[in-house]
Amino acid sequence: MYMTYQPKQITIGENSLGSLGGSAKKLKTTDLLVVIDQFLTTEPLNYDEKVNQILKQENIDVTFFSDYQGEPTTDHLEAALTIAKEQGVNGVAAIGGGSAIDIAKATALFYRNPQMEWDAITDQNSLERLPLIAIPTTAGTGSEATKVMVITDTEKGIKMNPGHPDLIPDIAILDPALTSSLPKNFTAYTGIDALTHAIEAFVSTKANIATDQYALTAIQIAGRSLPIVYNNGMNMAAREEMLLASTYAGIAFSNASTNLAHAAGRALGARFHIPHGLSVAVLLPLVMRFGLQAAPERYAQIAVALGEDATKDINELAEQSIQAIEKYCDDFQIWKDVLNYIDLQDLERNIDLLAKDALDGNGILTNRIVPSSSDIKKLFLDLVGKLSKVKGVNQV
Ligand SMILES: NC(=O)c1ccc[n+]([C@@H]2O[C@H](COP(=O)([O-])OP(=O)(O)OC[C@H]3O[C@@H](n4cnc5c(N)ncnc54)[C@H](O)[C@@H]3O)[C@@H](O)[C@H]2O)c1
Ligand SMILES: [Fe+2]
Repeated sequence: MYMTYQPKQITIGENSLGSLGGSAKKLKTTDLLVVIDQFLTTEPLNYDEKVNQILKQENIDVTFFSDYQGEPTTDHLEAALTIAKEQGVNGVAAIGGGSAIDIAKATALFYRNPQMEWDAITDQNSLERLPLIAIPTTAGTGSEATKVMVITDTEKGIKMNPGHPDLIPDIAILDPALTSSLPKNFTAYTGIDALTHAIEAFVSTKANIATDQYALTAIQIAGRSLPIVYNNGMNMAAREEMLLASTYAGIAFSNASTNLAHAAGRALGARFHIPHGLSVAVLLPLVMRFGLQAAPERYAQIAVALGEDATKDINELAEQSIQAIEKYCDDFQIWKDVLNYIDLQDLERNIDLLAKDALDGNGILTNRIVPSSSDIKKLFLDLVGKLSKVKGVNQV
């Protein structure tokens, strides 16, 4: 028997942002804190003004919070909570990428549970929190549909990622118009993040009949739409598909876990300050290679979902699943981009620490082959090898 958890309502369609007022009203919110990505409040987007008008029609008061940069920390959370308490809000919404959504999740939780310890969140029977609406503007983390929130502890310098089904937003609104301003590089990073969620969920030891369907659908949709949105960010049908793929991938991994690409990616991203999707993308092909022999039929299904001919030999297909991801990384400049964040000698020097951080994170025990410390060190060494080659070619 398996239980899957997901938002109560998923609204999808161009300009569905307009449904925010009705959704907030449905959740009995009269005073809403809106965590909004700062970029979306600038000219010519002015999404804060649009949201103001939408909520005014339902007589809902709004307070905006945009005072965060980069990926969220406990300092950002404190700042959001202070504003929420001063205003006395009774609901929280997020309009932004995973960073905005995770700040909103944490604010909704700690507003009601100021004394809650981070370590205790996962083990609670149930969690009280403020009503929560998530409107993703990247596609993405899938955070609008997941039980997880990722917040860096500013004092300890570690990424915490507790999960609880009650942290899943009540309502997710997927409006492709909001993602159209996402630049090419972040379209690629966040898109591969979504693909990685789906692939890791599909090969996880916690995968089940329900998560498999969400994962495979997400892989299929993202596989055809990601190259389209990368080349033409204004293609609304493809942007809409990417949002759906990201949400479905979120449901898949939230219930079946992410694995080694995320455990190692989080460690790499935290140490070198690399955007989440990019840090995961560079590790995904290497992690797939590590797990290939343990589940060739699963990797073959991934290749078929990505468009390969299903009549081919299973081992050939399994290999092609890796080649397909490597091609995305080549086409989307992933290897070159990560070199802007990583000094290769520094990476090599830090391999022991990175392996330790990865082993301490979530997603090790549910990996199809449970990696040892030396397996993870080899993974990072292979990354050094791959990036050295890329750097060499670029310098010629
Ligand atoms: N909770 C979860 O389930 C979950 C899952 C995976 C990752 N995460 C976390 O989510 C965070 C990353 O989220 P993300 O990858 O969505 O990126 P993000 O929210 O950090 O945004 C990335 C960049 O894109 C910009 N941006 C966002 N939307 C835009 C738009 N529509 N137009 C123009 N610019 C836009 C932002 O300003 C920022 O500079 C990390 O902290 C990661 O650990 C959470
Ligand atoms: Fe991710």
